[in-house]
Amino acid sequence: MLKNIQYGMPEHKLACSDDKLVCPEGMIFESHAHYDDKQFDPDREELLSSMKANCIGTIINVGSDFASCKRTLELMQKYAFIYGALGIHPSDIADLNEEVYEWLRSSAALPKVAAIGEIGLDYYWEKDEETQSRQRYWFCRQMELARELSLPVIIHSRDAAEDTLKLMKGIHAEQIPGVIHCFSYSLELAREYVKMGYYIGIGGVVTFKNAKKLKETAACIPLDRILLETDCPYLSPEPNRGKRNSSLNLPYVAKEIASLRGITEEEVIEATRENALRLFDLRRDHLT
Ligand code: NI
Repeated sequence: MLKNIQYGMPEHKLACSDDKLVCPEGMIFESHAHYDDKQFDPDREELLSSMKANCIGTIINVGSDFASCKRTLELMQKYAFIYGALGIHPSDIADLNEEVYEWLRSSAALPKVAAIGEIGLDYYWEKDEETQSRQRYWFCRQMELARELSLPVIIHSRDAAEDTLKLMKGIHAEQIPGVIHCFSYSLELAREYVKMGYYIGIGGVVTFKNAKKLKETAACIPLDRILLETDCPYLSPEPNRGKRNSSLNLPYVAKEIASLRGITEEEVIEATRENALRLFDLRRDHLT
């Protein structure tokens, strides 16, 4: 059973959830979740129904392979507060061919699709050079799709810092808005992405004691460039590290960022909400 825990949010803020607004003021914008994952099969409905009461205002459910993109479309149709991102993760590019690419193009035109993602490079799980080169090819193609559809991108980059930046500079990615999700590189590199106009997605890892680089990044990059995310069911923050993650853990992430920057949790929640609404362009009238 899911416990209905309130994470110390001021009570008046619970009353400001207007259905007509995308992530009303005072609520948290979750920019990266995978509620299509089978780990949520036992209690998905119950969990998602508890979001509003726990001040989670809007969720971007992010596709990673073809099947999860299809499930993302179902979730965003079922729940008003869920938006979708469609894209094929670098570890799943075996799913990609021209037919799937065309499916992505037509499905991404649906009004509640807010981004192309997650796309990118992952050399941690893939050491084979030929497959890495295929990752670069499909990363490029999906970036071009985002450009064509005027959608932002959600980028996954692991153990591929140099190639990701090189490829992005090569295709003038500064013209395509986006977020580097679950940022795991140095402050210097975060600043480079911020200069290109990118947002930095920060999740549960920032609460880990040994996450020195990420704590430094969270403390030093401009507040108007940070997005809150979970990557759930993965990467639960302290004190729930190792357990299944969900958006209900985001207050722990906000609290850690606030303490690193010497500001309040509410300021972090408000800034990251504004940032996400700006990046995903969710103030458009036809969506409300
Ligand atoms: Ni993810």
